[in-house]
This record gives sequence, C-alpha cells and structure tokens, in this order.
Amino acid sequence: MSLLEILHYPDPRLRTVAAPVKIFDQALKQFCDNLLETMYAAPGIGLAATQVNVHQQIISVDVSEKQDSPHLLVNPTLTLHGAQYAGEEGCLSVPGIYEPVSRAERITVSAANPLGETVSFEAEGLLAICIQHEYDHLQGKLFVDYLSGLKRNRIRKKLQKQKK
Ligand code: NI
Repeated sequence: MSLLEILHYPDPRLRTVAAPVKIFDQALKQFCDNLLETMYAAPGIGLAATQVNVHQQIISVDVSEKQDSPHLLVNPTLTLHGAQYAGEEGCLSVPGIYEPVSRAERITVSAANPLGETVSFEAEGLLAICIQHEYDHLQGKLFVDYLSGLKRNRIRKKLQKQKK
C-alpha cells in the first residue's frame, strides 16, 4: 500500500467533476486500499478520490473511533431525507478550518463496492454528513462553497499564506 498526496484548496483540480467507474479490476481495488490508508494516516474520517487527483467516483469513509468500519463507495448516489441539520465540518483539503454546514439528517446510499457488487444502506448523524461531504467532492464541490464569499476569501488567503 502507498500513501497518496492530498490536494489543498484552492487547487483548481479539486473542481474537477469525477467520472463513473466502469471497470472493476485489481487496479481499482488497489487504489481503494490506498485511498483508505491515506485517509487513516491523515488522519481523517472521509476522503474522495478527487482529493488525491484521481477523477473517478470513489469515496472512502470511516467515522468509527477505532478505524474499523470502513465504507469504500464506488459510483455512489444519495437520496436525502429528514430535516436539515448543521454540524461542524472540516476537510483534509482545507486543513485547520472548521465551519458549520447544513446537511440532510438522513440519507439512503446506493453504490458499488470495489468488487463491483451493489451496496445500499441508510445512514444518519456523522456518517450521513460525512458521505454527503465526500459526495460533494466528486462534483467538484467543497464545504467552503456553502460559506459566505467573505469567509471563503479569508480561508483562501489563510491557506495560501501557510503554503509559502
Ligand atoms: Ni473534504
């Protein structure tokens, strides 16, 4: 396994819209393992392929404390349910920034696993928030897009300064 490099906002590559995965082969499985390993090492609770500059619809999520409940979701689709709920979010591509974002309280997820088998489940709470956040990455969308322009500019300047 190997660790992948995570892109940081405002890198324009984070705006790429991911394509659906069509071939479920050993290379895909290998990539999924690396994505999960990179997420755990960061450490983080979610990582989208977009964030490691691979523009295919793949996300990894694990909100458990022991890092023992991974979900590797390929070509995910979400159905949103319930009320909106604002939880504090962060992102490995926007390091050190935490802001509340309004999300659906419950979701139904349909996806394939890395073997190409269909998976479908309901999620709520932190898992639901995390999957919605990672799903956004596949559309080229970041959680800072939900904030005011003023706030977003401040975050961009802060991260650009850190880079220098
Ligand atoms: Ni993120």
